[in-house]
Amino acid sequence: QSSVLHKFKEILFSTMSSEELLNSLDSFSAREDDVFLVSYPKSGTHWIAKVIENIPNAEITLTSPIELGDISKFEELKMYRKRRVIPTHLNYSMLPVDIKQKQCKIIYIIRNPKDTAVSLFHYYRDNPNLPGVETWAAFLELFLKGNVVYGSWFDHVLSWESHRNDKNILFIFYEEMKKDLSKSIKKITTFLGINVSDGEINQISWKSSFREMKNNAAKENCDPNKTICALTSNKNLVFRKGAVGDWINYFTSKQKRVFDELFTEKMKHSELARHFEDYS
Ligand code: A3P
Repeated sequence: QSSVLHKFKEILFSTMSSEELLNSLDSFSAREDDVFLVSYPKSGTHWIAKVIENIPNAEITLTSPIELGDISKFEELKMYRKRRVIPTHLNYSMLPVDIKQKQCKIIYIIRNPKDTAVSLFHYYRDNPNLPGVETWAAFLELFLKGNVVYGSWFDHVLSWESHRNDKNILFIFYEEMKKDLSKSIKKITTFLGINVSDGEINQISWKSSFREMKNNAAKENCDPNKTICALTSNKNLVFRKGAVGDWINYFTSKQKRVFDELFTEKMKHSELARHFEDYS
C-alpha cells in the first residue's frame, strides 16, 4: 500500500486518522443533542453540511470529522458549547458506542454507486492525501474489491441499512436533493426539529447550489478547522461536476455488466438499493 493510507480492522483509512484515535473511538462521549452527518466518501457530505450551516437560528457548530486527527480529538470536541454537527465516513459498526446508546440524530447521505465511484476516482487523482491511480479501469477494480479508502461502498451502505428503521436515523439521497432540494431541506429541518419558512428554504437552496458552493470554495482559504471530509481541507478538490449520471462517460459496457452483477449479488436484500434502479 501507499504511505497516505493505512489499514485498520481490514479497512483503509487516511494516515491523518491515527491508529490510536481509531482504536479509542468507543471512548467518545456523545451529547444527547449531537447530530452526526454520515456518508461514504463522495456522496454529498459537503452539500448537506452547507444546508445545515445555512439554517437560520440553528445554533450549531459544524466540527471536523470524528475520525480525523490523533488522540487529542475528543478533548477538542469537548470545547464546543453549541450543538455539535459532527461529520464522519465511518461504517455503522465502527461508530462510537455512546452515539448508539444515546440515540443521537444521524443523517446518512447516500448516492448511486456508479457516480460515487467516478467521483472517488477523480478524488484519487486530484487529492494529494490519496494514493495515485493510473487509469479508471484500475481504480474501478479497487473500488469493486473495497480496496479503497473507507472500504467497500456495498458494505458501508449495508451496515447502515440494517438500521434504516431506527427513528434517530434519516436517510437522504443525493439524487433526490438534485431533483428537489427544497423537499430535502424540509426533511432535514423537520428531522432536526427546527422551524423554517418557505422563504428561508429558498435562501438555503440558493446558498447551497453547486455553483454558489464552487465559487465560494475558490474564494475561501482552506481552513483545517473547517474540514468536513477527513481526506482534505481543500474545498477546491470537492466541487467537480455535481451531476447525476456522469458515470455513463466512464463505464464501458463490460464494466457496467461486471458492476451490475456485483451490485445485484451484494444488494439483493437491500431496499435502499431500489432507489438506484433509475440511475443504472
Ligand atoms: P462529483 O465529483 O461527481 O462532482 P462529498 O461532499 O461527500 O465529498 O461529495 C462530493 C461530491 O458531491 C462531488 O461530486 C461534488 O461535486 C458533489 N457536490 C457537492 N456540492 C454539491 C451541490 N451543491 N450540488 C450538487 N453536487 C454537489
